[in-house]
Amino acid sequence: MADIGLLYFKAEAVSALALAKLTNLTPGLIERHDFPDGEFKLKLPATLASSVVIFHGLDRPNAKLVELLFAAKTARQLGAKHLTLVAPYLAYMRQDIAFVPGEVVSQRIVGDLLASLFDAVVTVDPHLHRVADLQEAIPVKYAINLSAAPILGELALKKREQPFLLGPDEESAQWVAQAAKAHHLDFAVATKNRLGDYAVDIQMPSINVAGRAVVLLDDIASSGHTLARGAELLLTAGAKTVDVAVTHALFDAQAEAVMMKAGISQIWSTDCVLHASNAVTVMPAIAQALSSLCERFNHD
Ligand code: R5P
Repeated sequence: MADIGLLYFKAEAVSALALAKLTNLTPGLIERHDFPDGEFKLKLPATLASSVVIFHGLDRPNAKLVELLFAAKTARQLGAKHLTLVAPYLAYMRQDIAFVPGEVVSQRIVGDLLASLFDAVVTVDPHLHRVADLQEAIPVKYAINLSAAPILGELALKKREQPFLLGPDEESAQWVAQAAKAHHLDFAVATKNRLGDYAVDIQMPSINVAGRAVVLLDDIASSGHTLARGAELLLTAGAKTVDVAVTHALFDAQAEAVMMKAGISQIWSTDCVLHASNAVTVMPAIAQALSSLCERFNHD
């Protein structure tokens, strides 16, 4: 049996095993035992390769960050020389500034923690707003930021005739422009003012969407209110259909109901976060990134 090159947790077995197959890395399960008082214990396979990938998406992140801390430190003790985190969704990237004194800048703290544990981080469409790049948020040696935007654009084109892509807020401009450019689609970007966790105000750009199949494209759907408000405005403006394509499906059933009530026809997401709405996979893109990372480690 070859040394373990890709460590994963049970709940993410489907994605991790698909990635292991694409990369030819030998997968190994990290076992978890939960004690009655809420603490837990992990057990890693004892024979690791010198380069190890830990696959752990950071949606619902709090317990997962502790799991990563334990697993990464133990992998080093077991001899892992190069340690890479594959976290298709990276948590806490949205809190990148203290708006009032005393407010915690979670992005910096989580970024520093991950950089202290790993040599490389691979992720997809992290929410980087006021920082220049992923390396600034996570100061690791190799910070690889992939984008699902072209894949989502391709999906929109497959599903709808001549779709019009709309980004619901300024931050989405980076993804919607990329998706549109890759597939020669019309696009525009709205502006958003967040009024609270469950309330947003959206200003539409001056566009004519009458009779068009519009796809709202964003990095994250969480409460669903951004996309729901966007859909309402688009349908009022005469859009024929409004669908949603997001990289990270962080939404629950209640949020889904909010979006459907607003008139959204279909919600499509990538498998960055396992969800019933998953319609496309990012694992081949991650596999490619890991293979280029492997070459870089070989030259170190
Ligand atoms: C933030 O600006 C992100 O890009 C998303 O638009 C946001 O996280 C969506 O949140 P919600 O679904 O709660 O409106």
